[in-house]
Amino acid sequence: MVDQAERLRSIIQERSSRQIVDKGRFSRIIAVASGKGGVGKTNLVVNMGIIMGKLGHKIVILDTDLGMANTDILMDLKPVYTLVDVIQGNKDLKEVLLKGPHNVELLPGGSCLPELINLDNQQREQLFSRLSYLDQEENILLIDCSAGISRDVLFFVASSDDLVLVTTPEPTAITDAYGIIKVINKHGLKPKISVVINMVHHLKEGEVVYQRINNVCRKFLDIGVKYLGSIEYDQHVQRAVLNCYPYVLQFPRSRATLLTREITRRLLSEEEKPAKKKEEKFLRRFLTIWNTGSEG
Ligand SMILES: Nc1ncnc2c1ncn2[C@@H]1O[C@H](COP(=O)(O)OP(=O)(O)OP(=O)(O)O)[C@@H](O)[C@H]1O
Ligand SMILES: [Mg+2]
Repeated sequence: MVDQAERLRSIIQERSSRQIVDKGRFSRIIAVASGKGGVGKTNLVVNMGIIMGKLGHKIVILDTDLGMANTDILMDLKPVYTLVDVIQGNKDLKEVLLKGPHNVELLPGGSCLPELINLDNQQREQLFSRLSYLDQEENILLIDCSAGISRDVLFFVASSDDLVLVTTPEPTAITDAYGIIKVINKHGLKPKISVVINMVHHLKEGEVVYQRINNVCRKFLDIGVKYLGSIEYDQHVQRAVLNCYPYVLQFPRSRATLLTREITRRLLSEEEKPAKKKEEKFLRRFLTIWNTGSEG
């Protein structure tokens, strides 16, 4: 393990000397995660991505669910190759990138054998170093994480400026969302954490759920989380999913679209971190996770 950490340190040094001029133009890397599954992450990522794309940003969506990826389905894209091919070393990230609507590109996950779902350290390292290269050319990277808090999710959160945590008002989803924040905090990661409450009956309900999460975080972890907003339970979302089409495009006047637009605007209006030294930071955060993992 010491050898692996040493290898990463040398990557940091090598990279920072090689990329002196163009340090990467991803203005932001945003991970979307949840404690509980099925709370609406993928729908949020795809639809926020399209809204951002329509606003003129260049978006890459990274579907990190290597077991049961479905971002491509929601965008009606048919990937021939996926991230699994990249991890196996058969394809380059550029060859896997799919063009979606409105300036949105997708790096599709895959549907593969269980042994490939959790990356080993070498695969993580390879994927991460390839992503750093994409970093030079694109604008906003939106990461659709799988549910829960595996090493892979920690790795992607460690690589992000922002963590958008999605939950529903269900008590189990709220508890699991807090669980994620706790683990992230324990690992010393400091992304800006914000919360979206999805499938609420009314907006007041979402605010109450947010307050509860924020209070617990303040009390036990001494950190605050930001409220991005809530999305009401809206059948238009399900109808769009059935049509394999993003709801913001199919139902532009629906409540879900309106509220997703507000959430996206709020997320975009957050202060952007300077791109300077971003990659170095990206590597250092990764190293933190790596070392923590190898101790335990
Ligand atoms: N605001 C909403 N109103 C009604 N239904 C919704 C809403 N948001 C999501 N859904 C429904 O919830 C289901 C799960 O959504 P989605 O696949 O985006 O969740 P997920 O968090 O990505 O799931 P997983 O953890 O399996 O990746 C979908 O069938 C979708 O139709
Ligand atoms: Mg999903």
